[in-house]
Amino acid sequence: MKILLRRTIACSLFILAAAFPRYLAHAAAAPIVLTGADRRPAMSLDGEWGSIIDPYFSGLFSFHHQEKANGFFLNRKARPEDTFPTEYDFDKAAKLRVPGDWNTQREDLLYYEGPMWYERDFSYQPKPHTHLFLHIGAANYRSYFWVNGQKVCEHEGGYTSFNCEVTVAVHAGANFVVAAVDNTRHEDNVPTLETDWWNYGGLTREVSLIEVPEAFIDQYDVHLSRQEGTIIEGWVHVSGGQSGASVTVELPELHASTNANIDEAGRAAFHFAVKGLERWSPESPRLYKVELHAGDDSIEEMMGFRTIETRGTQILLNGKPIFLRGVAVHAEAPYRGGRAYSDKDAETLLGWARELGCNYVRLAHYPHAETMLRAADRMGIMVWSENPVYWALQFDNPKVLAKAEQQLDEEIGTSRNHAAIILWSMANETPNTDARTNFIETLASRARALDPSRLITAALLVRADGHTKIVDDPLGKALDVIGVNEYIGWYEGRPESADNTNWSIAYDKPVIVSEFGAGAKAGLHGNENERWTEEYEASVYRHQLQMLNRITQLSGMSPWVLMDFRSPNRPLTGIQDEYNRKGLISEKGEKKLAFYVLQKAYKDRTIGKPQ
Ligand code: GCU
Repeated sequence: MKILLRRTIACSLFILAAAFPRYLAHAAAAPIVLTGADRRPAMSLDGEWGSIIDPYFSGLFSFHHQEKANGFFLNRKARPEDTFPTEYDFDKAAKLRVPGDWNTQREDLLYYEGPMWYERDFSYQPKPHTHLFLHIGAANYRSYFWVNGQKVCEHEGGYTSFNCEVTVAVHAGANFVVAAVDNTRHEDNVPTLETDWWNYGGLTREVSLIEVPEAFIDQYDVHLSRQEGTIIEGWVHVSGGQSGASVTVELPELHASTNANIDEAGRAAFHFAVKGLERWSPESPRLYKVELHAGDDSIEEMMGFRTIETRGTQILLNGKPIFLRGVAVHAEAPYRGGRAYSDKDAETLLGWARELGCNYVRLAHYPHAETMLRAADRMGIMVWSENPVYWALQFDNPKVLAKAEQQLDEEIGTSRNHAAIILWSMANETPNTDARTNFIETLASRARALDPSRLITAALLVRADGHTKIVDDPLGKALDVIGVNEYIGWYEGRPESADNTNWSIAYDKPVIVSEFGAGAKAGLHGNENERWTEEYEASVYRHQLQMLNRITQLSGMSPWVLMDFRSPNRPLTGIQDEYNRKGLISEKGEKKLAFYVLQKAYKDRTIGKPQ
């Protein structure tokens, strides 16, 4: 009986395939990167979406794990005359908010890892000579998109934005978009199975529709030349641009502009002199309106101009040595919890960093939202931005390298014009193997080729010989700035262990201590030898600050971490309760004693070389 039934279903699938050829045949184009997508007029699709949890992904795959022709992407409504059941209905389904992770929207979804379907109706009037893109700010982790039942793209990577061409899929009037987002962790993912942060799933950032003309600006780079401080240089790439056609780059406030011609590859390189430019810096985060024009297409940006480079063991901002007084930050939303995405989230987190006396933040361990980077530009806070090459990836797997390269291309392609970003970090705490070193050296040279105007770094592990910490990971050769993670006083020793710790660093390069810290439950008090008390955390900070001042090439620091954040690795009941408690502030905004220890050191400038 069962076999007979299955046969019937198989035949009906075959009939369906015949009935719905365009849904099967249509190979979706790869999504593209759009620089400054958030600066373009857009039709927002944010809000409530119908959602269906689908742990077995039966909305896409058949019982023989073949991609279905009549999957949930059809958003089909059952009809009385149907000869087969339609076993889903987005209109009746529970709602999920977009943007937003699903884990913190409903208790039953807190631990959910798997496929989730989303559906949203929209109305649209197609225009001639116009491309329409579905812009996704971020979707964790693997995602698939259909418009009116037609596959438009799929994407892998949870922290970078991408844009799917939907021009041919939309029609006049009522349309619908269906997405399937799957945050299942796999060994060959980037990041891989283990992370010390919550695997928030979903459409975690804004979703919108963006119209552009037939020939449009997809990527551009505008920055101040390191060599000549009064020259602005860069390039504009025009998709569908005619070779020889002209683009214009303009800074109206400075009465400065230039024209350049598109080459065979659609790229127009430019450089032009500007007078009276005020450079961007933490003290004066001056932003200028920049207009880019190419045929019928235009983009208006707000940008700062500064140079960043190294000289020996110093980091130079606008040619002057600078010390990075920082803190590490996860994209965890203050108070409400979940994945941060909004202007308000960014202003709260960076506001606290500013209150600490920071001029820099390490945005860990993945690219953060454009809202965060725009706020950093406005507030004058320098940024370490990181590709999620975290812990032990499959470094000998070329497919994994390709995924890391794609995410790097999207990170740099999307965010390259933020003056705040001074460092591209390639990785965090990766094992010292040849496969790893080759993998990350490949990424580092790719980043240099994509953007020679910034510094390349990574957070390295250190080894010890007695009381000496040794920084000689071979990966250091490929970096401009050495990031060092250490947990003296927490994972090893007591707070005072830092007092007799020396450092041996194999590189004549600037060093940033990219992580140190200790756990404390806000409001838990005791003597400074009692772990988990605020006093213990504060004591770790006091001893660390003295030790760090003994590292001659120290050019910055970003203690772990600004705010307590959710982590599946932290089960200690009554203390952690699935939060990493190394924050200087709790997830409810309670400042711990260590916050004031660090604030004092930053305000009094008792840490770091005098500037
Ligand atoms: C590591 C890691 C962080 C982690 C931290 C910790 O160094 O980079 O992601 O949260 O240590 O253990 O708290």
